[in-house]
Amino acid sequence: MDISNLHVAVIGLGYVGLPLAVEFGKKRKVIGFDINSKRISELKKGVDFTLEVDKEELQEAKGLSFTDSLDELKAANVFIVTVPTPIDDFKRPDLTPLVRASETIGKVLKKGDIVIYESTVYPGATEEDCVPVLERVSGLKFNQDFFAGYSPERINPGDKEHRVSTIKKVTSGSTPEVAKTVDALYREIIVAGTHLASSIKVAEAAKVIENTQRDVNIALINELAIIFNRMGIDTLEVLEAAGTKWNFLPFRPGLVGGHCIGVDPYYLTHKAQAIGYHPEMILAGRRLNDGMGEYVVSELVKSMIKKGIQVQGARVLVLGLTFKENCPDLRNTRVVDIVDELKEYGVNVDIHDPWASPEEAMHEYGLELVDKPDSKAYDAVILAVAHKQFKSYDAAALSAICKDNRVIYDLKYAFDKALTDMRL
Ligand SMILES: NC(=O)c1ccc[n+]([C@@H]2O[C@H](COP(=O)([O-])OP(=O)(O)OC[C@H]3O[C@@H](n4cnc5c(N)ncnc54)[C@H](O)[C@@H]3O)[C@@H](O)[C@H]2O)c1
Repeated sequence: MDISNLHVAVIGLGYVGLPLAVEFGKKRKVIGFDINSKRISELKKGVDFTLEVDKEELQEAKGLSFTDSLDELKAANVFIVTVPTPIDDFKRPDLTPLVRASETIGKVLKKGDIVIYESTVYPGATEEDCVPVLERVSGLKFNQDFFAGYSPERINPGDKEHRVSTIKKVTSGSTPEVAKTVDALYREIIVAGTHLASSIKVAEAAKVIENTQRDVNIALINELAIIFNRMGIDTLEVLEAAGTKWNFLPFRPGLVGGHCIGVDPYYLTHKAQAIGYHPEMILAGRRLNDGMGEYVVSELVKSMIKKGIQVQGARVLVLGLTFKENCPDLRNTRVVDIVDELKEYGVNVDIHDPWASPEEAMHEYGLELVDKPDSKAYDAVILAVAHKQFKSYDAAALSAICKDNRVIYDLKYAFDKALTDMRL
């Protein structure tokens, strides 16, 4: 398969698009395109606010150029789309960015070009929702004049071990020949290898069930944690004991936030409902996971009352706001549920997160971050995100910031058990 004449453009340079463009840029000429001009000018200066790619790596990607100009996209003949696929307020898929990106590509699409989607969608979205936009805007005919592919992304922001090139990648194409071309293109950068799926729909479905499976599994463990907490049994100790069986899956309880796990199942359930099936397990899992913030606060409040701590007016420190550890990503963090719920009880909440941007926390959630926890100030501490900075807290560090009578609630098993009053 000759892929030497392919000129790649990556559309959408976020957590997914930038690392991908960088990998291709180490091997060939790549156009990195984004509608966010600020992002483009930062990247031109070697700054990646997502912290996924450092300055040296950006420099290593010698073939990569950045632009927000449609004119410069014309040179490409393979377009890889990595724009967001969020849900709206009613938890329905919002395909606006995908449609807009398809319109952009439609304006520069030529005969023989290939458009590969990477954004997470439901099965059918590429061919039923995106391809018609490409056809309408370009006036070209699908699978005659231009072709499509779908190759879902599996990266894990903040994870320096599992990077684009070291994660096996599922590929697919709209015809058998195009599928081979798409696969060969990715094999150029993916050292872990590829899995060529039999169709675009299979590849789309594979991605969305990876995250749905994870969500449902975490929901099960959250439910078990609720049961065990009522019984006074330590959930982690149960999970460690059960985990000695070879086929027990190592999930942990917790908040499920972020751009993927808490969102993608709704893409699948939306499609299921559109074809007349009402999913039960998947939506039950979603409800359970979405209720964890409220549950955590109700448990904390009970514990504070038991210790004779006046809840209204109490000061509670929440450690961590990002949706996962060692990562600045604040999107769809469910820690805000804890903060909101605490405020319902009249609690004064301080949030400390060395990874989060204070400006973004204010802009996205109207929340102020404290630079440094106060001294001897807090009636309770909730460890919400296991950032490495928090893992080093010892008894002295906690005593320095807490009142003598306090509750320490560790949602992530980050502290030594002896230091905590409660764990999830
Ligand atoms: N972040 C993850 O961990 C992850 C992992 C696997 C899959 N995904 C999926 O990958 C996709 C992208 O996610 P992300 O985390 O990189 O999103 P992101 O928000 O970090 O980045 C998206 C980028 O696309 C740009 N953009 C938006 N609309 C555009 C348009 N019309 N034209 C050009 N650029 C546009 C935005 O400016 C932004 O820079 C989503 O479907 C997501 O579900 C994400």
